[in-house]
Amino acid sequence: MKIALGSDHAGFELKEDLRSYLAEMKIDALDLGTYSEDSVDYPDVAVKVAEKVARGEVERGLLICGTGIGMSIVANRFAGVRAALCHDLSTARISREHNNANILALGGRLIGKGLAREILRVWLETEFQGGRHERRLNKIAALEAKAGKRGKK
Ligand code: RB5
Repeated sequence: MKIALGSDHAGFELKEDLRSYLAEMKIDALDLGTYSEDSVDYPDVAVKVAEKVARGEVERGLLICGTGIGMSIVANRFAGVRAALCHDLSTARISREHNNANILALGGRLIGKGLAREILRVWLETEFQGGRHERRLNKIAALEAKAGKRGKK
C-alpha cells in the first residue's frame, strides 16, 4: 500500500510524527508537504493529496490541518475520494468498514500524537465490509458522475 500525506502549518508537527510512524510500519509514504511551520493555505495541500488518490496513483491519503475540517472539505470535492475526519478509534474503524474511506483527515491541534498513531494504525488495518455499504457508495459515485466532479479516473 502507498499513502500520500500532507498538512498545513497547523498539522505539520503531527504529520512529521506520523511520517516516522509510517516508516516504522514499513508503509510507503509520499510526503506532499508542507515542509515547515510557515503558514500555508490548507486547500493547496489537500488538492495535491486528493488528486493522487482520485487518479489512483496512491491507495490512501492522510491530511492534517488544525482541525481536519478544512482538509476533509477540500478532499471530498474530488470524485472517488471519501475523506473521513476521525477523532477516535471508533470513527477510524467505521470509516473503513462502512465508508471505505480512502483519505484520513486529522486535527493536529485537537488530538495528541499517541492517539493519532493509534487512529492511523486502525484506519490502515481495517477492511471495508462491502455488502449493503457497497450499494450506498455506488449511490455516492452516481451523484459524483451527475455533478461532473473533478479528478475522475
Ligand atoms: C489554520 O489556522 C486552520 O484554519 C487550519 O489548519 C484548519 O484547521 C482549517 O480547517
